[in-house]
Amino acid sequence: IDSPLIDGHGRTISYLRISVTDRCDLRCRYCMAEHMTFLPKAAVLSLDEMAIIAERFIARGIRKIRLTGGEPLVRRDVEQLVRRLGSHVGSDLDELTMTTNGNHLVEHAAALVDAGMRRINVSLDTRDPELFRYITRHGDVARVIGGIYAARDAGLRVKINMVALKGQNDGEIASMLAWCRDEGLDLTLIETMPLGAIDEDRTDRFLPLTAVMDELKADFPLVRDMHDSGGPARYWRVDGSSTRLGLISPLTANFCSTCNRVRLTTEGILYTCLGHDDQVDLKAILRAEGVAGLDAALDSAMGTKPARHDFDIAAAAPAVSRHMSVTGG
Ligand code: GTP
Ligand code: 5AD
Ligand code: SF4
Repeated sequence: IDSPLIDGHGRTISYLRISVTDRCDLRCRYCMAEHMTFLPKAAVLSLDEMAIIAERFIARGIRKIRLTGGEPLVRRDVEQLVRRLGSHVGSDLDELTMTTNGNHLVEHAAALVDAGMRRINVSLDTRDPELFRYITRHGDVARVIGGIYAARDAGLRVKINMVALKGQNDGEIASMLAWCRDEGLDLTLIETMPLGAIDEDRTDRFLPLTAVMDELKADFPLVRDMHDSGGPARYWRVDGSSTRLGLISPLTANFCSTCNRVRLTTEGILYTCLGHDDQVDLKAILRAEGVAGLDAALDSAMGTKPARHDFDIAAAAPAVSRHMSVTGG
């Protein structure tokens, strides 16, 4: 590879997250406001431009790419990007994967596998139909669960992402883990993070995962699993099963010292941290200078990556004003 990407804190960057669209067909209350303004089509990178940027990252040592959104499967022809990046898997890329809301998996699962995907993460905060409809504002849980089964049956390893929400799904975490164990799925619990204005107060919903783990350990034989997915989670395994329980605790157990990630938005902006505004406009550079301009931009971005986020769930305003859907988490 060409010179690797190492940031100003000595961390090697090997994981690129690409938000392929800021749009979503759901409106999860902890993620978005009900009324959102999305980017005009002209402001958006073409799939070809995304691939060109991603391939420059691969040349600089990126080993894992995750497609996110918004909802990646609502971007038209996204499979072309999956196929092109998938062609690197097994040679200069270890993994190409996706985080999706599951609403369109029935139609796409087989094509994703065919394009080289082996594993996906699907957001499912509750299996209760009414609560699911409430949290997502538009969702039909049966449809998402059907998508999860379709993905699993097509051969994808599926990890459920569950944002822990006090007073909403906190009574359901143990049963979600039992379901995942019985269905051959993994489960990752996530602390809600203050990104972007929403219509409610995140403080009221914040549930520290430290407390959740004490309860789960009483109900399940959980053994620490040193598995490293390349992401921020710490893992346990339900003994006697293949199910892994992941914990993403940015608020109660900071993991920034081992951060290996940067994020490319739909607009071609590179954000060096989920919790800060530091950015480089790769779209402008690509359109003005071509691929040749990208390397210097990536090098200068490395110098600006902050040491850590400073999310404070109790702060009056969110740490960053953009929503999770802009950078894809
Ligand atoms: P794996 O490859 O399965 O480990 O996935 P992942 O956890 O990297 O990706 P996913 O898209 O499933 O993200 C799960 C949660 O982790 C989301 O809420 C993301 O916002 C959050 N997350 C991912 N990377 C970071 C990070 O660098 N900092 C913080 N604070 N949260 C992150
Ligand atoms: N805090 C934590 N997780 C969030 N997600 C979306 N918004 C937030 C937030 N504010 C989750 C989604 C998805 C993943 C990419 O991030 O549920 O699973
Ligand atoms: Fe859409 Fe995901 Fe945000 Fe829910 S969390 S509104 S599914 S982008």
